[in-house]
Amino acid sequence: MDETSTGQAFWDGRYSEHDHLWSGEPNAVLVREITDLEPGTALDLGCGEGGDAIWLARRGWGVTAADISGVALDRAAHHAKAAGVADRIEFQRHDLAASFPEGTYDLVSAAFLHSPEEGMPREAILRAAAAAVAPGGVLLVVGHAGPPPWDPDAHPGVHLPTADEVLASLRLPDDVWEVLVSDEHERIQTAPDGRTMTRTDNALKLRRRG
Ligand SMILES: C[S@@+](CC[C@H](N)C(=O)[O-])C[C@H]1O[C@@H](n2cnc3c(N)ncnc32)[C@H](O)[C@@H]1O
Repeated sequence: MDETSTGQAFWDGRYSEHDHLWSGEPNAVLVREITDLEPGTALDLGCGEGGDAIWLARRGWGVTAADISGVALDRAAHHAKAAGVADRIEFQRHDLAASFPEGTYDLVSAAFLHSPEEGMPREAILRAAAAAVAPGGVLLVVGHAGPPPWDPDAHPGVHLPTADEVLASLRLPDDVWEVLVSDEHERIQTAPDGRTMTRTDNALKLRRRG
């Protein structure tokens, strides 16, 4: 089995174990950072079950949403139809390590594009994400700053970079890119056993100068 099919099998399996993995709500950082932007074209990388893509489409964005998992994409497409925004979202299956949606976008968002699967080249994918931002557009990268508090030993092989580390790994020329947000923040998450716990995430928001 090659790298692509291993990753897809992992994520299809993970999604198939549950009716839904995520809340269906958009990520809070996306809402915080994008609400004031004029809608245009958006690319959602690792879109999962479509919470972010649907929120963007409802606000008038034309969205391309990509994920490695066909199970997640089918589910996301179903939710988009139910939300009445199916015509505003194009779902594409990609192992982003191997292929990438064509074109440039006013917003490129990668929210929690993590994988316990070894070998996902997150830095290279995020560099491709930056390259897909149109002049004047925004790149938003949201990630976990540490393992889930209810399972600190989860995924020991996965490095979770700080926002500064993500920025450095993008290797972007300062004269072309402006850093709008680089932060670490806490949010409340519900553990699998129902306990409410605090988790630390980070966010990087950059604008490509026009
Ligand atoms: C932690 S989930 C986040 C989902 C969604 N962005 C959210 O915030 O709810 C990570 C997502 O990335 C996808 N993914 C993992 N590796 C990928 C890859 N190589 N190419 C494309 N998508 C990938 C997974 O299928 C999963 O949907």
